[in-house]
Amino acid sequence: MAATITIVRNPTFHNLRFHSPNKHFTPLVFNFAKMEGSQMGEQVVSGEDLRAKKKIFVAGATGSTGKRIVEQLLAKGFSVKAGVRDLDKARTTLSSSNPSLQFVKADVTEGSDKLAQAIGDDSEAVVCATGFRPGWDLLAPWKVDNFGTVNLVEACRKRNVNRFILISSILVNGAAMGQLLNPAYIFLNVFGLTLVAKLQAENYIRKSGINYTIIRPGGLRNDPPTGNVVMEPEDTLYEGSISRDQVAEVAVEALAYPEASYKVVEIVSRPDAPKRSYHDLFGSIRQR
Ligand SMILES: NC(=O)c1ccc[n+]([C@@H]2O[C@H](COP(=O)([O-])OP(=O)(O)OC[C@H]3O[C@@H](n4cnc5c(N)ncnc54)[C@H](OP(=O)(O)O)[C@@H]3O)[C@@H](O)[C@H]2O)c1
Repeated sequence: MAATITIVRNPTFHNLRFHSPNKHFTPLVFNFAKMEGSQMGEQVVSGEDLRAKKKIFVAGATGSTGKRIVEQLLAKGFSVKAGVRDLDKARTTLSSSNPSLQFVKADVTEGSDKLAQAIGDDSEAVVCATGFRPGWDLLAPWKVDNFGTVNLVEACRKRNVNRFILISSILVNGAAMGQLLNPAYIFLNVFGLTLVAKLQAENYIRKSGINYTIIRPGGLRNDPPTGNVVMEPEDTLYEGSISRDQVAEVAVEALAYPEASYKVVEIVSRPDAPKRSYHDLFGSIRQR
């Protein structure tokens, strides 16, 4: 029987593996970490390799950024476990017919044990795109953006998940940046000290030992990207905005590039910024 060769991309590390049904064939692994998504050849995924696909847990998957992260992960060949508060909402927000997408209930305020159950023993990384929903509870930012994120990190520990991507915000450390009078800093802290809550969570993640990438976007826009991503080190950017599509892209690419590990990156987009590869963008930020 003629051997057919299946080409599979291992999305976590942007590898290509060459498989054959012939069991004497030794799989080859090539590292394509320096290639951008659009430069990659499309893959054919066999049944065997479907099982080998990386599964990523996304908290806040029904949010405006979370759903984009889920969609981009699926498009890149990952399996996704979408952590949501409302399963019915999830089925209408996200395409529930995709066999690589699974919904699980996950309220980050309910503690790390429940979250660990939701994450399960098959998730290789967690992406946190939660954010409190404005309401009457002034403690909501503290419960969701601080303790909720801490709960997720603790749940990762319980499940031996060692990769964590957080969508945070520019200006979380605005006080230390001399931005106390920045209207955005004031506005976001007036309602429940939102930025302070996020900073507390960031500090917890950084001390936890988990392999993290903390992404701090500027103001989020729903419209498609109009410029290129600008990535700067922590406590640098105090203004600017970015499309949620690009924030999702940065989160997904962070999973692929080792250069993103143990880093805090601040991102906005600018029409006049040069287009740079993610290898270059993440590589340009120093670990602290
Ligand atoms: N808006 C901006 O301009 C801006 C700028 C910089 C950074 N950020 C940050 O970027 C992140 C994403 O923002 P976004 O505007 O895309 O978010 P969003 O649309 O407001 O979505 C927030 C998500 O968090 C979920 N959530 C809320 N409370 C939760 C809980 N107790 N347990 C689990 N999930 C919970 C929501 O679930 P439901 O769908 O069930 O409500 C929703 O999926 C947030 O952390 C936000 O603070 C925002």
